[in-house]
Amino acid sequence: MTTPLRLGIAGLGTVGVGVVKIVQQHADLLEKRAGRPVVITAVSARSKDKDRGVDLSKYAWETDPVQLAQRDDVDVFVEVMGGHEGPAKDATAAAIEAGKDVVSANKALLAIHGQSLAEAAETAGRVIRFEAAVAGGIPVVKALTEGLAANEISRVIGVMNGSCNYILTRMESAGLSYEAVFDEANNLGYLEADPELDVGGIDAGHKLALLASIAFGTQVDFDAVELEGIGAVTIEDIHQAADMGYKIKLLGVAQMTGRGLEQRMSPCLVPDTSPLGQLEGGTNMVVLEGDAVSQVVLRGPGAGEGPTASAVMGDVMDIARGIRISTFGQPANTLRKARAARAAIPAPYYLRLQLLDKPGALAKVAHALGEAGISIDRMRQYGHLDTAAPVLIVTHKTTRAALEEALEAFHTTGVVSGDPVAIRIEEL
Ligand code: HSE
Repeated sequence: MTTPLRLGIAGLGTVGVGVVKIVQQHADLLEKRAGRPVVITAVSARSKDKDRGVDLSKYAWETDPVQLAQRDDVDVFVEVMGGHEGPAKDATAAAIEAGKDVVSANKALLAIHGQSLAEAAETAGRVIRFEAAVAGGIPVVKALTEGLAANEISRVIGVMNGSCNYILTRMESAGLSYEAVFDEANNLGYLEADPELDVGGIDAGHKLALLASIAFGTQVDFDAVELEGIGAVTIEDIHQAADMGYKIKLLGVAQMTGRGLEQRMSPCLVPDTSPLGQLEGGTNMVVLEGDAVSQVVLRGPGAGEGPTASAVMGDVMDIARGIRISTFGQPANTLRKARAARAAIPAPYYLRLQLLDKPGALAKVAHALGEAGISIDRMRQYGHLDTAAPVLIVTHKTTRAALEEALEAFHTTGVVSGDPVAIRIEEL
């Protein structure tokens, strides 16, 4: 019999239990495909007594994940605990030091400490794999590191937080406010324990930073991700963007520009007929663009027991088969530090403003845009609400700086009521 690959699983929440189920239910399939048995030898979690609906009696139990990581009968340390400091970080470092390979679902840990962990692993001749950290069950890390390895990647773009996509699509379908759907999603258990990780764009920002590192051969730099959450998205904008042929998505975009690496996670408009525009509910979608392949669209479940465990086990199977790929697709010591682009490349913008019902009001707004060098592509005015009329403007491509100049000038026209809304339109 060939040597089994022995897993130590740290964390028995949704994902850990999903991994245990796959190993137990698919033992034969895994062995046939890997050419060797894949077994669990030890597990650890906070509470031993909790009934998790799976039989753990044949596995050694460790209370401390660091002890688990150091066990002689563990070849691969599977980290599905979460948290970017404390036990997850300590145990991952301990596993590498003890000569184990690591499979992690921990986006925060890798987005913040990925470079140093990858360097340590590669110095020790070990691998860290993290398919489950990005977009749940979608094999996007594999697609970038393997399938598209011969492409120069120009852009990575996607919806990588299912909870936000659920909130935005539910607001539109039910005509509900952000606050109402947020509460609904929270009550349904769709949001992280700290919901700001989801709605603040942080969780998706971690994922984008990881993909950007692989795509552009750069050191992962989460701090350089320009982050804006969905808390300010209103039902009015969802409806009126729809009227102009767009959907609002929490969109991640990473691209290498002449001015440096651009990484943004923010609400953007996308054409409603595009694959991203048609993405409903908690599903994720990642679009990869490369010089040889053109465009690849990957769509699938971004969270949940089965999908995330599937991604963990994909990495485990690579290790079982002897496939050893650098954490970020090339040796960690060859990843360069990217200069962060200070400004996003020009794009069209959607503007919504309340225009007072006065002669020449529209002309003043058009003048302010013209003075800032911004050309109008399309415009629509709705019926007056008392003294003001909602006006929607879609601009031609412009810079954020020019847009800020125009928004500033709107205030001095005396015809714009309140604060105008400006949302970037991402071209696909
Ligand atoms: N909370 C995430 C989401 C899943 O809603 O997509 C884990 O990253």
